Amino acid sequence: MPALFRKQREIRNYIKLHKCENGRTIGLVPTMGYLHEGHVRLIRESKMQNDITIVSIYVNPLQFAKGEDYERYPRDLQRDISVCEEESVDVVFAPMDEDMYPDKPLTKIEVEGLTNILEEKFRPGHFSGVCTVVLKLLNIIQPDRAYFGEKDYQQLKVVEKLVRDLSINTEIIPVSTVRDANGLAYSSRNSYLSAEERESALSLYRSFILADKLFKNGNKDSKLLKEAITDFILKHPHVRKIDYVEITDENLKPVQEVKEGDRILLAVWVGSTRLIDNWRIGYAEV
Ligand code: PAF
Repeated sequence: MPALFRKQREIRNYIKLHKCENGRTIGLVPTMGYLHEGHVRLIRESKMQNDITIVSIYVNPLQFAKGEDYERYPRDLQRDISVCEEESVDVVFAPMDEDMYPDKPLTKIEVEGLTNILEEKFRPGHFSGVCTVVLKLLNIIQPDRAYFGEKDYQQLKVVEKLVRDLSINTEIIPVSTVRDANGLAYSSRNSYLSAEERESALSLYRSFILADKLFKNGNKDSKLLKEAITDFILKHPHVRKIDYVEITDENLKPVQEVKEGDRILLAVWVGSTRLIDNWRIGYAEV
């Protein structure tokens, strides 16, 4: 059974003993809970590379824009603890709001050119909230390594740059997206989808395969590929709207002429669920 800490003070004491005094290495898997296969992949990576694996579970209010799903975001701490137990996680850190934010944080973090694009256009304040909580977790836990899924590709790029810019002594380890047998990327928000919506949500993955096929047949024009993806996804029932489809280089700079290794990034509403996903071009076996 993992040790459960709900207060910064408790986990700081644990870190002092195990890392500072006994020199053990620490891997952090930051999550908002409702753990799925994607999280399990992060945990397993951490278990392989560190003496101690800590999973943080905290639905961070700061990263939800006004009117978003903060209240209805799925939560089940007991189930998450069972998943962590099965994966032999050492510590679960599930802080309370009043402990994380004893008063309203006034610090706003911006990573120029990375936090003001794509997701941020549709979720104002989202990345400042993500950066605040990630920095707090890194400061509290001082992990040697922290594990982030490529599923949230923009978040990964923001965190990598933040950690570099501020000389945080933690290595950020990217972990590839985990998909179910049909290609749907695991996400806690998939639990909102009805069976029919889930079927339509597969259009995201299938649009990536389509784009890869077009690319391999010589279509390198970003505009053409984005239109093909958009048209394909919009054909599916329950798809309400597309917030964006973008193709960028690996540092999130939009490209006109697409090359292998560039990224397709998109955000799509299926029913009342907003899904994000991304794809590294040229890597599908088509
Ligand atoms: O990716 C997530 O689940 C969250 O954005 C994170 C990194 C745990 C911060 O709340």
